[in-house]
Amino acid sequence: MQIKNDALSLILDASDKKTLEEIKLQFLGRSGKLTLALKDITKVPLDRRAEVGKLANEVKESVEEAIDRQEGMLQHKTMQTKRQTLDVTNPGITPPHGHLHLITQAIQEITSIFEKIGFTRVRYPEIDWDYYAFTALNFPANHPARDDWETFFTKEDTDSEKGQIVLTPHTSNGQVREMERAVADSKKTGQPVSIRMLNIAKCYRRQSDVSHTQMFHQFEGLVVGENISIVHLKGVLDYFVKSYFGENRTSRIRPYHFQFTEPSFEIDVTCGVCLGKGCKLCKAGWLEMGGAGMVHPNVLKYGGIDTKKYTGFAFGWGVERVLMMKEGIEIDDLRLLYSNKLEFLEQF
Ligand code: PHE
Repeated sequence: MQIKNDALSLILDASDKKTLEEIKLQFLGRSGKLTLALKDITKVPLDRRAEVGKLANEVKESVEEAIDRQEGMLQHKTMQTKRQTLDVTNPGITPPHGHLHLITQAIQEITSIFEKIGFTRVRYPEIDWDYYAFTALNFPANHPARDDWETFFTKEDTDSEKGQIVLTPHTSNGQVREMERAVADSKKTGQPVSIRMLNIAKCYRRQSDVSHTQMFHQFEGLVVGENISIVHLKGVLDYFVKSYFGENRTSRIRPYHFQFTEPSFEIDVTCGVCLGKGCKLCKAGWLEMGGAGMVHPNVLKYGGIDTKKYTGFAFGWGVERVLMMKEGIEIDDLRLLYSNKLEFLEQF
């Protein structure tokens, strides 16, 4: 009983949470007074043990209750004083902000760069017929060049003319689709065929390592019109390189081979770290950005375009790749982009 009275008066006097915590320890802790008293119950003669035990438990409960009550009181008090000192002119607590994914940001930036020179962003299927991904791009039937693209072929459906369905391994499938649209348009309006397309889409290839993901993004440019030449391609390329990477970067074109362009090129951009001098990252000063070339006449024909009147150029570059080549952004493992790891994504 003495213990109970001691405890209760201490509890009522406790004016802050810390003191209350100490009192709790002092009575209810592992070697607290009440705990020890309860242990001593074995010393009580057997015939009185039940009665004493019951009493001891009641004491314990009322002490616990008193502590809880006092705790509530203290909390109420602090809330009241807080309310009294609330300054409504203080700035609020900013809730956590999310932001667009790194790739979405890059897509938006690339789109706005090309829109400034008259390109229009379009969307074409990311799951398409073999016809648009290969055949209409001048790949002969069963040509081994189809293998270069590590394509996922599906068994979903097969069309006698358009072939199998594929997960598009590049955005070039948009080329002939865009030509079909533009030709139909020109027939309707009587205006010459005019294309300035920017097709940005997901692409898929059987690949997965630090610099490749099975799903990635490309942006494909296609320009078709009268008297379009390599000069226009080089002009657009230089404009993009300066706008996206910065005035201090330059590009070069190297001969290459693609089935759907002739001549074909591989495009390099000076490394953002050494600016072309050569360093650990790039070795010889240049980083490869992707392919380009003058649209092959066979492709124009597949698109229904008069090859005597019109020419065009096309390019297809990787969104992830240009992003990594941009100064200041180094991603050791490309797969991190799609792993949903917030610690990684929040850095950008
Ligand atoms: N489609 C090619 C690729 O994925 C790139 C390319 C696009 C090349 C357009 C030439 C013209 O590698």
